[in-house]
Amino acid sequence: MKTVTVGMAGAGWAGAMHARSYRKVYGLDCRLKTVCALEDNLEEFARRHGFEAATDQFDDLLRDAEIDIIDVTTPPSLHADMVSRALRAGKNVICEKPLTGFFADRNGDNPDKPKRMLDAVMEEAGAIGHILAESGRRLCYAENWLYSPPFVRMLDLLAVKRTQVILIEGATGHNGSHAPHANYWKFNGGGALIRQGIHPVAAALHLKRRARETIGLEYAVAGVWCDCARLTDTLPDKLHFAARPVDVEDWARVVITFSDGTKADIMAGDVLMGGIVNQLAVHGNDASYYCNMTPNNLLEAYYPDADGFDDIQITEKASHNAGWMSPLVAQECLRGYEGQLQDFLEAVAADREPVSGFALARETLAVIYAAYVSAETGRPIDLRGML
Ligand SMILES: NC(=O)c1ccc[n+]([C@@H]2O[C@H](COP(=O)([O-])OP(=O)(O)OC[C@H]3O[C@@H](n4cnc5c(N)ncnc54)[C@H](O)[C@@H]3O)[C@@H](O)[C@H]2O)c1
Repeated sequence: MKTVTVGMAGAGWAGAMHARSYRKVYGLDCRLKTVCALEDNLEEFARRHGFEAATDQFDDLLRDAEIDIIDVTTPPSLHADMVSRALRAGKNVICEKPLTGFFADRNGDNPDKPKRMLDAVMEEAGAIGHILAESGRRLCYAENWLYSPPFVRMLDLLAVKRTQVILIEGATGHNGSHAPHANYWKFNGGGALIRQGIHPVAAALHLKRRARETIGLEYAVAGVWCDCARLTDTLPDKLHFAARPVDVEDWARVVITFSDGTKADIMAGDVLMGGIVNQLAVHGNDASYYCNMTPNNLLEAYYPDADGFDDIQITEKASHNAGWMSPLVAQECLRGYEGQLQDFLEAVAADREPVSGFALARETLAVIYAAYVSAETGRPIDLRGML
């Protein structure tokens, strides 16, 4: 059986999710060699997840001739540099979302900034594309929504029925990230839109691209319109919100217009109570679909109290573990984390493109930053000819 040896950078929320999901890879041998992160208890993380070694030096992953693929799950502002260095070192790469971003300090706005954001991000993505092409390696873009079983099943059914999709509606969010760095543009390159909205944006782009491949429908992004706001600023009391956004939005709505006149309408918010929401609705000439990744009703429970649940997450981002709940079920699978790593390791073993690769990562970034430019200028942004 072919062995694929993994080095992973980052051991936080995403790193742990990836580490658990690697255990489910089948049909090839997945060897977890080294995890690299800055936590004091990294050795314990390595032991728990089956990594052979732990380090705080990214270069250790680059220098290790046994490592086939480096999985980048560090904060967004580190992605471009780590991905580029890994490719130059001859490694295949998995990159968590986003591939890169515009990480300037946005306090003290300047009218020059909006357009510069989009140009700078596209330039950086282009540079990564060149390094990738020269390397001859694979870049796997960790967009887990593409591998969520309800989404995959819907794509198959859309293709079989040759449905012409005219409207995609995405919704994603919760009551805000607990991570302090999520409150600042300079660390995340934006707010709720780039942290969360990036998932349904990528899913919508992929769906339209698949429709071109499977039933020959026209596909190109024509334009993007967006409105962003910091809605919690209107509240005197933010008691029930985890986020404390400083210079980023906590709500965004993006409308993507495709060249065939069809639309994707996507909402991302850090202002939703009751747990994490990851949903996509798709409407066509002969079908409507509702992908309820989270929440869903696979398991419903009522708890008169939360006794015994101190260390357990019944559902991500709920404020309590009592009352009527929809406990998360097999979230590594249902949210697509297992499927993406299966595809990525198979892609490396077979030297083929992953389902989610560089092209999607780049196009998603273009839509996200065109959206930010639109929100700042109050105009729709024309992307024809750019992608
Ligand atoms: N796909 C998803 O559903 C999803 C969910 C959450 C986060 N993410 C993405 O995953 C990435 C990480 O987010 P997170 O929530 O896990 O963050 P986190 O803060 O929980 O973890 C970040 C990790 O990176 C490590 N790190 C930081 N600087 C480093 C350096 N210089 N060298 C080596 N390691 C370093 C930290 O030690 C930590 O282990 C982000 O890009 C985020 O967008 C994706």
